[in-house]
Amino acid sequence: MTGEDDTVLELAVRLARAAGAIQRERYETNFEVRTKSAAIDLVTEVDHACEALIVETLNEERPDDAIVAEEGGGEDWENASWRWVIDPLDGTTNYAHGYPRFCVSIGVERDGDGAVGVVFDPMLDELYTAVRGRGAALNGRRLRVSEETELNRALVATGFAYDVQRSREDNLNHFASFIKTVRAVRRDGSAALDLCYVAAGRLDGFWELKLHPWDVAAGNLIVAEAGGRVSDLSGGPALRSGQQTVASNGHLHASILNLLARP
Ligand code: IPD
Ligand code: CA
Ligand code: CA
Repeated sequence: MTGEDDTVLELAVRLARAAGAIQRERYETNFEVRTKSAAIDLVTEVDHACEALIVETLNEERPDDAIVAEEGGGEDWENASWRWVIDPLDGTTNYAHGYPRFCVSIGVERDGDGAVGVVFDPMLDELYTAVRGRGAALNGRRLRVSEETELNRALVATGFAYDVQRSREDNLNHFASFIKTVRAVRRDGSAALDLCYVAAGRLDGFWELKLHPWDVAAGNLIVAEAGGRVSDLSGGPALRSGQQTVASNGHLHASILNLLARP
């Protein structure tokens, strides 16, 4: 723990709140929507406005830090001590449809390891924070994962990548096995919030196959600091790339991995 962790946390919180305010203000207004990698992969003017605000402030206040931001506004370089990994709007499809589940996600790494994580849901005014070694909180209240030990009583969530309509690795096989096994499965369109919901004990588990660094940089730390576990599909350390993300309350981790290992 260093004093700099606190400085970084305070700045991440300020930026997440500021971007969240833009999202709330422009929610259900007439903003521009475009497509990216596929017809179902959207980006709005608001994604760009949030990213610009975050990146410009970081460039001014932390010029030595590297930035990986989803819409390409940041500059990354090797050997940076601090790296900000940013999803300016996680849940863009929801946002574009006026479905009120989306957030800002800011993860900060120090020397390659997650050090600070902040996720802000502006519609519920819920701020999730974590600092490595110091626990996770929701609006300042300590977070703890659920105690559930039985898969058949578990509520879990997943998501699908934007190549779902053309890829054979479409996650539908896993979706079917979980639907037939657990209490219920949710697909609510914001991976960063899904991870925070595991941390908060609202969900018992979550998996997704093809996420990106900005989807998980904050959420993975928040889950771990709330006492949960995050790994890849084989139970190895969580991948910074976001590929094969499995998160749980810990008790259910082996059972979830077993189910995902079925063909
Ligand atoms: C997406 C959301 C969604 C997940 C997708 C992500 P975006 O992020 O987190 O829940 O299923 O894989 O790409 O595009 O809204 O930032
Ligand atoms: Ca995302
Ligand atoms: Ca995004």
